[in-house]
Amino acid sequence: MSNLQFSFKNKAAVVTGGAQGIGFQITLSFLQAGGNVAVWDYSAQALEAAKKELSSFKDQVHFQQVDVTQKESCDQAVQALPWPADVLVNNAGITRDKSFGKMSFDDWNAVINTNLTGLFNVTKTLSEKFNPQSMNKRIINISSVVGLYGNFGQTNYAAAKAGVIGMTKTLGKELGRKGFTVNAVAPGFISTAMTQAMPKETLDAMAAKVPVARLGSTADIANAVMFLASEQAGYINGAVISVDGGLVI
Ligand SMILES: NC(=O)c1ccc[n+]([C@@H]2O[C@H](COP(=O)([O-])OP(=O)(O)OC[C@H]3O[C@@H](n4cnc5c(N)ncnc54)[C@H](O)[C@@H]3O)[C@@H](O)[C@H]2O)c1
Repeated sequence: MSNLQFSFKNKAAVVTGGAQGIGFQITLSFLQAGGNVAVWDYSAQALEAAKKELSSFKDQVHFQQVDVTQKESCDQAVQALPWPADVLVNNAGITRDKSFGKMSFDDWNAVINTNLTGLFNVTKTLSEKFNPQSMNKRIINISSVVGLYGNFGQTNYAAAKAGVIGMTKTLGKELGRKGFTVNAVAPGFISTAMTQAMPKETLDAMAAKVPVARLGSTADIANAVMFLASEQAGYINGAVISVDGGLVI
């Protein structure tokens, strides 16, 4: 649950991968702050579950099945968007972890296509559908601590997430004059459905590596995203905010 008090009334966000995990929490936080949200996700099952869970916000939320790896799919979603966008959160991501020796070309391509090319597809297609009146347009890209420091077994994911940081800084330079800020959030170990299924000893060992001695929550990430999306964050541009409990100090 986010306790930050930002108002997004009369504003609209697009959240990719917004039907579950971190993206769902970001969606919920925007809705609770009075915003409208278009949830773009490729999982029909996750979209259905999110629709049920967010039924009390039904006038504020629009669900669209989108595959961010496919430009045509992004084009269709932009056409179907009910509101001009003020905020884009590029959150959709996947992992296909293997040591470099075992990593196949398919593993490489799937992760790069989703976690890096997907951002290009969505940002490029949506950039024309941003609210032209607004000088507070926001793009927030979800990177990872792994994109800053690398990680064993994640050549593909680390490369994509480092690429996201390069894209963030470049777009921050190019789009600043057009009323955008572009920033990245780099989460550390975040507790999601996936991590909750892990054995307690594994989770305890992960938490022990973090200076604040716990895994992060999806709300920890959503709080950073809400702040970056707010008007109050208008002078933060091209930044990478680590939300990792100090994991990499
Ligand atoms: N969970 C963590 O510990 C952690 C840490 C660092 C970074 N991240 C990043 O945070 C983001 C969200 O992660 P999560 O843990 O909530 O993952 P998740 O798997 O729970 O959710 C990802 C969502 O993205 C959607 N998605 C995947 N590929 C898609 C595509 N091609 N088109 C549209 N939607 C697609 C999925 O359907 C899903 O709803 C990802 O970018 C991930 O890399 C997560």
